[in-house]
Order: sequence, then C-alpha cells, then structure tokens
Amino acid sequence: MIKVIIIGAGNLAFHLLKTFEKNTEIEIIQTLNRSKKEHKSNIPFTTDYSKIKDADIYIIAVSDDAIPDVSQKLIHKKGLVVHTSGSVPMAVLSKNHNHGVFYPLQTFSKETEVDFSSVPIGVEAKNKTDLELLKNLGNAVSKNVQEISSKQRKSLHLSAVLVNNFTNHLYHLGKVMCKENKVSFELLKPLISETVKKLDTTSPFDAQTGPAKRGDKSTIKIHLNQIKDENLKKIYTTLSQSISNTYGEKL
Ligand SMILES: NC(=O)c1ccc[n+]([C@@H]2O[C@H](COP(=O)([O-])OP(=O)(O)OC[C@H]3O[C@@H](n4cnc5c(N)ncnc54)[C@H](OP(=O)(O)O)[C@@H]3O)[C@@H](O)[C@H]2O)c1
Repeated sequence: MIKVIIIGAGNLAFHLLKTFEKNTEIEIIQTLNRSKKEHKSNIPFTTDYSKIKDADIYIIAVSDDAIPDVSQKLIHKKGLVVHTSGSVPMAVLSKNHNHGVFYPLQTFSKETEVDFSSVPIGVEAKNKTDLELLKNLGNAVSKNVQEISSKQRKSLHLSAVLVNNFTNHLYHLGKVMCKENKVSFELLKPLISETVKKLDTTSPFDAQTGPAKRGDKSTIKIHLNQIKDENLKKIYTTLSQSISNTYGEKL
C-alpha cells in the first residue's frame, strides 16, 4: 500500500481524497489543511505541521502561490513531496530531498463528479525510484499516466487554458447574448457537443468552419455592427483575425 498524506482541502484535494479512499493500493494516513475544514471521512486530520506523520508521498494540493511556503514546512520529511500544479515548475520543491509532480489534467470542482480513471496524469520526479512510485500511484487510479517534464507541463497547462477556460468563457458570452435576445442557449448545445465529438476523427485545423475561415467579409461586418459591447467586439475581431491568418484569408 502506498501511504499518502493530502495537504489542502480545496477542489482537487476533495477529489483526490474521494478517489484514493476507495482504492485498495493507496492508504491516506492523514489529511492536513491550514483551516479547520475537516473532510467528511474517518481519516486523521490536522492543521498542525508539527503533527504530520511519516508517509511515502505528501501531496501538496494548495493554491499555486502557497506551494513554496507549504513545501518549506515539509523540508525534514524523508518521503516524496509532490505538488499538483500545471504551471509551477518541479524546481520550487528542490529543497525537499525527494520531490516531484503529480498533475491531473482535468478541471475539478467539488460540485461535479469526476471519473478519475479517464483523467490523464502527468508525473515528474527527480530520481527514478520516485518516478516509479508516482507512476504506481497514478496507475492505481488512472488508465493514462505519462512522464511529463516541467517544460511540457507548462505548455500543456497553457493549452488547457486556451481549450477549456477560454472556450468556456465564450460559452458564457454566447449564453448572455442568447438571454438578452430571449432565445434558449440549449439550442446551441448539440453544436457544442458535435464540435468536441469531431476532434475524435478530425484535427481542429480541418474542422474549422465559419465566416473568418471562408473570408466572408460582409457577414463579419454585420456581426461587428450587431455587437454593442466593446470588449466582445475586440474578442470577435482578434479571433476572426487569428482564424483568417491561419487559413491565409485576408479580412
Ligand atoms: N481544480 C482544478 O481543476 C485543478 C486541476 C489540476 C491541478 N490543480 C492544482 O491543484 C492545486 C489546488 O487547486 P484547487 O483548485 O484545489 O484550489 P482551491 O480549491 O482554491 O483550494 C486551495 C487550497 O489551498 C489552501 N491554501 C491557500 N493558500 C494557502 C496558504 N497560504 N497556505 C496553506 N494553504 C493554503 C486553501 O486552504 P483553505 O481551505 O484554508 O482556504 C485550500 O485548501 C493547485 O496547485 C492547482 O494548480 C487544480
């Protein structure tokens, strides 16, 4: 059994706890958080770093900015200290004797169920033994565990912001526009699903459609006249320009 301690009580910590608790290869021996936000489970909990037990792996699942501070408090521990962030380099843990990264590439919030077996997990460690240990931890919960360097993880995380956070913001802007014009956003959901489904068989480059791809200047002009919000106008213009540059169309 891999003995694990989870530090943090936010969205990711919640899902790690739920998933690890059910797993027969992993034992969570303790959870720790700075505030008394105790998990609803029988696992020992503390807010006091001096009471932290000895574990094989300490998973730091706190806000990115707090990782250096928290890792400093684990400096005397012999076990493997890992963080879970997409954008923080492994080197921030360099003062911890054994260190690495356990990065689950998914969006986690407490309200939404996640099937961890389909979550890709990027692992990185300073030495081979620790890398094997992290792979074992990952393989216990996911079908997709890969060794990913800090540099690769950084660009994966940036890509994740583009494909997830930015598209989701566009869904929000679309929904606001639907609401203002009293038409249901539900009507757009099959289109959204189809766009994602297409990625199984077609590259995003080949799948692109729309006025900017076609170089349809009159439709773009109509859309820009229709948009009242200056911020949305800028977003529309920038994205249209990017699409047209990609396909060599002049707008
Ligand atoms: N959520 C995701 O979709 C996701 C996906 C992949 C990786 N990650 C990574 O997972 C980590 C946690 O993200 P999250 O979304 O779970 O964050 P979150 O829900 O905002 O929770 C943050 C946790 O960090 C603790 N914290 C904040 N500042 C702290 C400090 N100065 N000292 C000690 N603890 C502190 C908070 O403690 P309190 O409870 O006391 O406020 C809270 O438990 C991040 O590194 C993030 O990049 C997140």
